[in-house]
Amino acid sequence: MTKILFIFLFSGIGAKFHEKTKLTPLSAVKQVIKLGKKPQPYKTYPDAEKIKLPLPDYRGMVLEEAIKRRRSVRNYSSAPLTLEEISQLLFSAQGITGYYAGIPLRAAPSAGALYPVEIYLIVLNVNGLKKGIYHYNVREHSLEFIKEGDFKNEIFKAGLFQEMFLDAPVIFVYTAIFKRTTYKYDERGYRYVYIEIGHIAQNVSLQAVSLGLVSCVIGAFFDDMVNKIIEVDGKEEAVIYLQTIGKPK
Ligand SMILES: Cc1cc2nc3c(=O)[nH]c(=O)nc-3n(C[C@H](O)[C@H](O)[C@H](O)COP(=O)(O)O)c2cc1C
Repeated sequence: MTKILFIFLFSGIGAKFHEKTKLTPLSAVKQVIKLGKKPQPYKTYPDAEKIKLPLPDYRGMVLEEAIKRRRSVRNYSSAPLTLEEISQLLFSAQGITGYYAGIPLRAAPSAGALYPVEIYLIVLNVNGLKKGIYHYNVREHSLEFIKEGDFKNEIFKAGLFQEMFLDAPVIFVYTAIFKRTTYKYDERGYRYVYIEIGHIAQNVSLQAVSLGLVSCVIGAFFDDMVNKIIEVDGKEEAVIYLQTIGKPK
């Protein structure tokens, strides 16, 4: 009790967050008897132009080799990525890989199979795609074209002027719609959301290696600037993580 009081009086928000999201017998029971409507695990842009992605049927290197070779790489060649590569990367991130009791399950694990993560692409150099912002439609394995434009300078600024934004052909933007998870797990759901995005980005890192690509995950960026680029409100849905992907130089 004294320890908890000490945390709340003298520590920063991080320690308070950790303390407040600890599972207790009471909060565990509350989660089990959770009532209310389960939020939809799919976001779609019904009016957007759709780009159907090719079948993600690539077979690459053995897993152990991909794990061994993975490095954060921050410079890329000027070669464009292909739609086949984008398709495979997105499938490894959030593609539907199976079913349990009729519920579609995805490539990365998700607490309660609630899938709070959305993926946007800032496309700068991909064959067959205009420059602009796209959203991954999980159910259809397609891209939804949200808006056209060259967002390189904006993401470079939003990403603290880090070098990888200068020549990355594509940037994956991972957001969370918190309510999908917190509706069941309350405040602890925030922890789950952050953990899940790590799982997804790791799948993408390894898939990139297997495709002969390189990538870098990025946690340092101005949140509100990125939220503005992809047009999410930063509250119900907010950016959590970025990942640049390209061909090696
Ligand atoms: C949560 C997280 C945030 C990161 N943020 C950045 C970042 O903003 N900029 C960057 O250049 N690298 C970032 N990295 C990559 C690390 O710098 C990198 O993983 C580390 O130096 C180890 O190198 P390796 O990935 O090549 O093994 C981040 C990694 C993680 C896991």
